[in-house]
Parts: sequence; C-alpha cells; structure tokens
Amino acid sequence: MYSGQYYLPIVMQALRKHLTYRWTMASVWNSDATLIHPLDLTSKWKPILIYSKGDWRKRGRWLDLLHCDSKEKDWHSWQQPLRETESLIRFFSRPGDLVVDPCGGSFTTAVACNNLGRKCIACDIDEECVTMGHERLALEQTLCRANPTTPILRPGKESERHRETPHER
Ligand SMILES: C[S@@+](CC[C@H](N)C(=O)[O-])C[C@H]1O[C@@H](n2cnc3c(N)ncnc32)[C@H](O)[C@@H]1O
Repeated sequence: MYSGQYYLPIVMQALRKHLTYRWTMASVWNSDATLIHPLDLTSKWKPILIYSKGDWRKRGRWLDLLHCDSKEKDWHSWQQPLRETESLIRFFSRPGDLVVDPCGGSFTTAVACNNLGRKCIACDIDEECVTMGHERLALEQTLCRANPTTPILRPGKESERHRETPHER
C-alpha cells in the first residue's frame, strides 16, 4: 500500500481494523524530489506499507528499499513506476497467484502481473481510469512481446524515456 507521509496516521488507523501491520518499505527517488512547503522539507522517498491478512506467509527474502530513477506519469498523475511495482509483486507473490488492486489508476499492477505471469483483478472508481487501463494493457500485451523489459509509454509521450531502477540492472 503506497501512502503519502502526510496521510500515514489516517491510513494506518483505517487499515489496522482489517489487516496486520508488518513493515514499512521505502521507495527512494534517485533524481526527483518533492518540496513539502509547510515543513520546508525536500522529500526523496515515499513509504510503502506492508500488511498481511492473518498470518504472515513468507514468500522468500525481500528488501525494504526500492530505488527509482524517474517518475512515470504518462498514463496517470499518480502512476507508480512499473519496475518498482514488478519488484513488489515478485517479492510478495508467486507465478500463477492472484493479485488484486482495487485502486488500479493506470493499471500498473495489472501490467506488472501480465509481465510476471500473475493473475490480476484491477478496478477503479473512475471509469476513465478503467478505459485507460484497458488501452494500456492492450498496448503492453501486443507491443511488449518483442521486448518484455521495455515499458510502453502512452501514445504521444514517446519522447519521455524510461530509466531502469539500479537494482533491476
Ligand atoms: C494513487 S492512484 C493508483 C495509481 C496506480 N498504482 C498506478 O500506478 O497508476 C489511486 C486510484 O484509486 C482510485 N480510487 C480512489 N478511491 C477509490 C475507491 N473507493 N474505489 C476504487 N478506486 C478508488 C482513484 O480513482 C485513483 O485512480
């Protein structure tokens, strides 16, 4: 679960009613930063909260730090980086598992699942996101066959180059 630092107390209070908190991961931006004006703070990371439903089922060793070289925002203003999402899915699921993303946005999770052989149910309250998600998945499914490691940019955004995260190299 991604959550901005500001909202952590509210998000954690809501989630604890249903899930067991396990850890907080950090996604660090190597090049970008966000200026938090009220605190006069330059922030270079975002938290990823890890919860389990019931017992913790170990899926293998995982690392609580992810590095991201660039923000990918060509499909959605809150889009998460595809390679980072793939790392999370690799850490916490196995091929063939079902991954559910109720807040799909630009459907990065669905694309990552498609690339990694996981089943996925993704949805979004915003119908436009669902339409865009279908468009993105269709593009990924047809174009990614030639080079599955290259994320597909939204048509019209071809000039924006994706940079791999260092730990993926
Ligand atoms: C942060 S974005 C997700 C971004 C996504 N991970 C990506 O990479 O594109 C959150 C999404 O949740 C959706 N959303 C917000 N409240 C929701 C709800 N109650 N049910 C379903 N979707 C919701 C928003 O419309 C938004 O697209």
